Amino acid sequence: RVNQKKRFSVASQRYREEHEIHPEQAWEENQVEKAKLNFGSKDRKQTEYQFVFGDQIEFIKANGIESSNDANVDVEKLQTSRNSKLKEDRKALPIYPYKDALLQAVHDYQVIIIVGETGSGKTTQIPQYLHEAGYTRSGGMIGCTQPRRVAAMRVAARVSNEMGSKLGHEVGYSIRFEDCTCEKTILKYMTDGMLLREFLTEPDLSSYSVIMIDEAHERTLSTDVLFGLIKDVARARPHFKLLISSATLDAEKFSDYFDCAPIFKIPGRRFPVEIHHIKEPISDYLDAAVTTALQIHVTQPQGDGDILIFLTGQEEIETAENIIKNRIKALGTKIAELITCPIYANLPTELQAKIFEPAPEGARKVVLATNIAETSLTIDGIKHVIDTGFCKIKCYNPRTGTESLLVTPISKGSANQRAGRSGRTGPGKCFRLYTEHSYTNDLEDNTIPEIQRTNLANVVLLLKSLGIINLLNFDFMDPPPAEALLKALELLFALGALDKDGKLTKVGERMSEFPLDPMLSKMIVASDKYKCSAEIIGIAAMLSVGNSIFYRPKDDRQVQADNAWMNFHIGNVGDHIALLKVYNSWKETKFSTQWCYENYIQVRSMKKARDIREQLQGRLERVGIDSTSNVNDLEAIKKSIISGFFPHSARLLKNGSYRTVKHPQTCHIHPSSGLSQVPPRWVVYHELVLTTKEYMRQVTELKQEWLVDVAPHYYQLKDVEDSSSKKMPCRIGLASSK
Ligand code: CDP
Ligand code: MG
Repeated sequence: RVNQKKRFSVASQRYREEHEIHPEQAWEENQVEKAKLNFGSKDRKQTEYQFVFGDQIEFIKANGIESSNDANVDVEKLQTSRNSKLKEDRKALPIYPYKDALLQAVHDYQVIIIVGETGSGKTTQIPQYLHEAGYTRSGGMIGCTQPRRVAAMRVAARVSNEMGSKLGHEVGYSIRFEDCTCEKTILKYMTDGMLLREFLTEPDLSSYSVIMIDEAHERTLSTDVLFGLIKDVARARPHFKLLISSATLDAEKFSDYFDCAPIFKIPGRRFPVEIHHIKEPISDYLDAAVTTALQIHVTQPQGDGDILIFLTGQEEIETAENIIKNRIKALGTKIAELITCPIYANLPTELQAKIFEPAPEGARKVVLATNIAETSLTIDGIKHVIDTGFCKIKCYNPRTGTESLLVTPISKGSANQRAGRSGRTGPGKCFRLYTEHSYTNDLEDNTIPEIQRTNLANVVLLLKSLGIINLLNFDFMDPPPAEALLKALELLFALGALDKDGKLTKVGERMSEFPLDPMLSKMIVASDKYKCSAEIIGIAAMLSVGNSIFYRPKDDRQVQADNAWMNFHIGNVGDHIALLKVYNSWKETKFSTQWCYENYIQVRSMKKARDIREQLQGRLERVGIDSTSNVNDLEAIKKSIISGFFPHSARLLKNGSYRTVKHPQTCHIHPSSGLSQVPPRWVVYHELVLTTKEYMRQVTELKQEWLVDVAPHYYQLKDVEDSSSKKMPCRIGLASSK
């Protein structure tokens, strides 16, 4: 016990100091509560939860949402009262008292670093202050970048509300494939990636009078590249203002990078947060998270605050949501209502607003979030944070060129941000599902910037298109590994986007017009040659939507769903062409929703694919590629695909697995693929994903000679010789196929 205490003290002292947490709030005083929460017990069972809840149940009010009589509500009055409430809310934000000082600083300096805790009002207020102070008067916009799409959309929605304008008018947002702005727009929220692409059409960003690079501490790849580019804009345009805003305190690095720019600190208002760690490591953090949430819900008095659980991704969030709903149901009506609110990057827009709505009287909200809720989005009313200690991050292996999303332990920085989310509106509690020892010894201080662990092909192509020839001299805040940079150059050279001297080619110019990964862009550019651009942009659009086309219910309809899906795979055409068939069939029904239901296709994803396809169509015209269609020439379609994806080819091995041709690696066809039951000898795949195994997703059969045909500079005959037919004169086969 003494040891335990000692360990706690050492690890948490720093935390307490950093976050001004009073020592008397420490953990030891809360043994009783801790016992109730029953952390670390390995054999938790349903009955045990009930036992824990036992005597608490009585003082939890029986659930009841007051139903208001909506018919009599005066809409106008309601609107006015809402508006004045919004005004009041704005004045109550921590940033409000510093408004004048901030405006003065912006007036005095060209570049400012702004530091303030999540929820202080940086994102929603600063652009409005600047607008009110006249920074949009001469026609320039105020742009504010966000690392995440959802954050850009939500914040724009909030600000347009506060300004009393319609979203997309004065206040708008721009994310990939979705531009919600118009000529009237003066405040524009956008993803950092979108602003990066704007450099292609407007290298001096002349439409903007101010740019705020928000959430700079996230250090996304796009933000890091923006830093380098926008520094030059500031030098070239003396009246341009640049704000770099961050939720963490290590702003000196930003200041150093931007020529000693002044740091403007917004003092936070943070309430004390109690940190609880589990005693022993657990194996199933999902179950532990759900259990903890339920225990908080039933043991803590109603109305004392909502719960926020940090999980790693959509699938996990959906699973947790189901478990919570089922367990709540099983507990019966004595338990107050617990409303689950998921939030993750791909959550449909119409469902996102729910997390910001206060829970009705007598109910409690449990928000299930990815690390999007760490700093990007502020959710009011959270009192309990459950931190699983994990997040999903992108990792890149420059040797094989493969990128994967891996569930990884978070950093200490993240852990502290997560804990802080509980102490925004009152004292809070954070339940960490990892040990104190882990926190101290296993977690890194900070997350490695994305630029050092990602595929750089996209960014290199963009920089080359902007005329930046020598990337080694580019002013990176933290330079990427030379190996990754080289790999990107190699790939772009292989795709024909760069010539031997590293200069952008005609093909590369065309590719950079598409807001897609270079391999997809190349596939589209190549479709010109094979006269099937209409089909290829359909495939590219479907691939860009991700893996949410097909709906696979978890009940007995699954067989029907699988059959419907297999219908698109008749003839083992491969996944790419199956996707095209789905799209074309939907189009034939005049984009019928009913058809989607009947075929277990998600209509929302299809609409997104249609939007994306339309935009790609527009890009085709811009680069001067005719729209040509050749739906029956599967060879032409496949060759276009291979023109972009030839580095992603694999051959079947005797044991049923596959080996990639270049940089050999063992992999398998993903079970969701139409080809998983009939594995062809040679395949091209869209991506490799690592789950239980290394899986190829979206797979199409190819003829090995096509590889040499399409990419002779990349593959030689010896690469594609069949090991089983090594002695066969391969050349003859090739000659006859030509
Ligand atoms: O950027 P920062 O974290 O400093 O704060 P913010 O995003 O500007 O949020 C300030 C306040 O606006 C939050 O405390 C929320 O109450 C509110 N907000 C909201 O209600 N809905 C949103 N979509 C965004 C912010
Ligand atoms: Mg913010």
